[in-house]
Amino acid sequence: MARITASVYTSHVPAIGVAIDQGRTAEPYWRPLFQGYEPSRAWMRDNRPDVVFLVYNDHANAFSLDLIPTFAIGCADSFLPADEGWGPRPVPLVQGHPELAAHIAHSVIQDDFDLTIANRMEVDHGLTVPLSLLFGQPRAWPCAVIPFAVNVVQYPVPSGRRCLALGRAIRKAVESFDAGLNVQVWGTGGMSHQLQGARAGLINRDFDNGFLDRLIADPEDLAQMPHIDYVREAGSEGIELVMWLIARGAMAAMPPKLIHRFYHVPASNTAVGHLILENP
Ligand code: DHB
Ligand code: FE
Repeated sequence: MARITASVYTSHVPAIGVAIDQGRTAEPYWRPLFQGYEPSRAWMRDNRPDVVFLVYNDHANAFSLDLIPTFAIGCADSFLPADEGWGPRPVPLVQGHPELAAHIAHSVIQDDFDLTIANRMEVDHGLTVPLSLLFGQPRAWPCAVIPFAVNVVQYPVPSGRRCLALGRAIRKAVESFDAGLNVQVWGTGGMSHQLQGARAGLINRDFDNGFLDRLIADPEDLAQMPHIDYVREAGSEGIELVMWLIARGAMAAMPPKLIHRFYHVPASNTAVGHLILENP
């Protein structure tokens, strides 16, 4: 049977992707950030997944106000990088896992979560920047990726409670797939940031570090936090953090093993947070 071995959490700032693509990671501004991911890249080389189930948000690139799926699972063979202003990132094509994705869609929908099936979808920085942070610049990504897009751009957004429960349903689905696959679930976006309005540039270190503590130790309690608290404390784009609860819900009930924790300010307008949790 397939197994979820670990979960990975990381911010997805587009400027990080540009720094990687333009070879600027050693510049003084960027070096401390990329150093924080070095232990993770080493761990990833030793703990290579077969499939990453990658929870992220699209930023009005694949979807628009015409069509706003709350949860969309990518069931295609492959996914092209989206064109989002700097042009499509020069990163490898994302290879999917249509069999596992279809199995998860079936299981999770029968468990009462209404997913949108995406049989063709482009993927933006929300998905490709986490891949670059964890895998660097390979000619091909080292594993299959199932994109799982969550609407946190246009209200109404899903609650933390629903995201945690969805993560549990995803674990049940993966563990009933009849193939010996090593699967990681990644939760991406956040941490505190606000890109527009009077509070543009907002960063809240206390909130962010408390969120990391609670995500590790008591996700059940964290999942009760209403969306308005994310926005008030972590800024309008801080609501991206709700996606981390999907990955956390996909972990086994026992306390996870903390492999790596990193927090850094600033990267562009954003506080960057990163965790790797291993299933016991
Ligand atoms: C920034 C952060 C984001 O999450 C995003 O989607 C776009 C921009 C930023 O900090 O610049
Ligand atoms: Fe974002």
